[in-house]
Amino acid sequence: MTQRLRISSINKDQINQPVSLNGWVRTRRDSKGITFIQLYDGSNQNGIQVVADEVLKNYQEITKLSTGASLVIHGKVVESPAKGQDFEIHAAEIEVIGDSAGDQYPLQKKGHTLEFLREIAHLRPRTNTLGAVFRIRNTLSWAIHSFFQQRNFLYVQTPIITANDAEGAGEMFRVTALNLENLPCDSQGKVNYEEDFFGTDVSLTVSGQLGAEVFALAFTDVYTFGPTFRAEKSNTSRHLAEFWMIEPEMAFMDLRGILSLTEDFLKYVIGECLEKHEHELAFLQKMYEPDLLETLKHIHQTEFETLTYTEAIDILQKSGESFEFPLKWGLGLQSEHERFLTEKHVKKPINLINYPKEIKAFYMKQNDDEKTVAAMDVLFPRLGEIVGGSQREDSLEMLSARMKEHGLLNDTYDWYLDLRRFGTVPHSGFGLGFERLVQFVSGMKNIRDVIPFPRVPGNANF
Ligand code: 4AD
Ligand code: MG
Repeated sequence: MTQRLRISSINKDQINQPVSLNGWVRTRRDSKGITFIQLYDGSNQNGIQVVADEVLKNYQEITKLSTGASLVIHGKVVESPAKGQDFEIHAAEIEVIGDSAGDQYPLQKKGHTLEFLREIAHLRPRTNTLGAVFRIRNTLSWAIHSFFQQRNFLYVQTPIITANDAEGAGEMFRVTALNLENLPCDSQGKVNYEEDFFGTDVSLTVSGQLGAEVFALAFTDVYTFGPTFRAEKSNTSRHLAEFWMIEPEMAFMDLRGILSLTEDFLKYVIGECLEKHEHELAFLQKMYEPDLLETLKHIHQTEFETLTYTEAIDILQKSGESFEFPLKWGLGLQSEHERFLTEKHVKKPINLINYPKEIKAFYMKQNDDEKTVAAMDVLFPRLGEIVGGSQREDSLEMLSARMKEHGLLNDTYDWYLDLRRFGTVPHSGFGLGFERLVQFVSGMKNIRDVIPFPRVPGNANF
């Protein structure tokens, strides 16, 4: 009986066996009564070569097939004499399921720029490049769950619609069911959200952290993995308005503890890709990032460096480099500073800790110096910040004071303070931007090329 197989599962046990494969034509080449079709079904990097000869009853039709046509192949697996592949299929029958309109098909053999591919985001998953990226993305998401599940973390889904600004940065997308053409307003012209669907002003979440803290104080070790939204107008190669975030949160845990978890975690997920994606990584290295494998292996093996913010400022000021952005104790670091530290100064990933409290979120634990908080950012080469986290302020008094300073001491957040009223404990967590991780592992220069349909300022197509 014929088996329906995915291309990636073909192995030596099937040699001389009849198989059926479904897929699309990547390329076709004819030579003296024989046609070679490179067929792909998304399951591996290279697809498989199908050899069709003129005895096939629809051979004429086969010689006219163009890139993108969909086929069912019935044939036999044979060892391939060709370089770079172990097996090929000798076709006994080829059914053409869907033709692809020849040269009107936007994806042609010659290859296209990544910018052009973004304009045809509904077709770009069919390319070698996006194929490699999305298989890596899939492995990373699976590896993330398996890392936390092996360590007995509870996976919790926090809400997407929320009244809290978890980062306190005011960069939220509002969600409303009000008629924007005819808003209910009070006598001062202010919108009356009591008439809105939830009876209050709500937005899309910027982070699942506050909800994760609730669960950590009940289940000890938890993580979220879900979509987050930021209305920051950062039109850069590492910002999206909609991105996925992984946020572990651990009770009875201080900043030092979370540093070693982060390092183990990043090494584990990178290691899974090195193990499973030899072909994808080799392709991406050849096309986009000559140092890709070397960098990934280096990060997988070396111990991360830990520096304080104050030490970093000192190093940057003494570096003799001319930076575009100003540099002074108390200011935030820009990606040029972060990249200098990790790429040129220590030449490995950095845990940068103890930032000035003024430039970090309200929930971070204040250090004894009263100037800094127990924050950490993990800095990676090529990217700068990949992870941001902290120990949380667990004292009711301190947290109330911080929230008052930020204008957050109100009914919306009272439940968050309850976590410090009833059985408070030191607890810590971090957020990893999933697309930044995929970008790093795949070597892609632009974050828009590692998510199916990027949402960025001025563009929410598809
Ligand atoms: O540093 P951030 O803002 O930290 C938080 O949201 C905390 N609540 C996390 C926590 O402690 N549970 O964001 C975390 C990470 C960043 O390090 C970055 O990797 C990513 O999220 N990130 C973005 N990725 C893509 N596009 C954006 N606009 C991003 N903003 C943040
Ligand atoms: Mg951050």
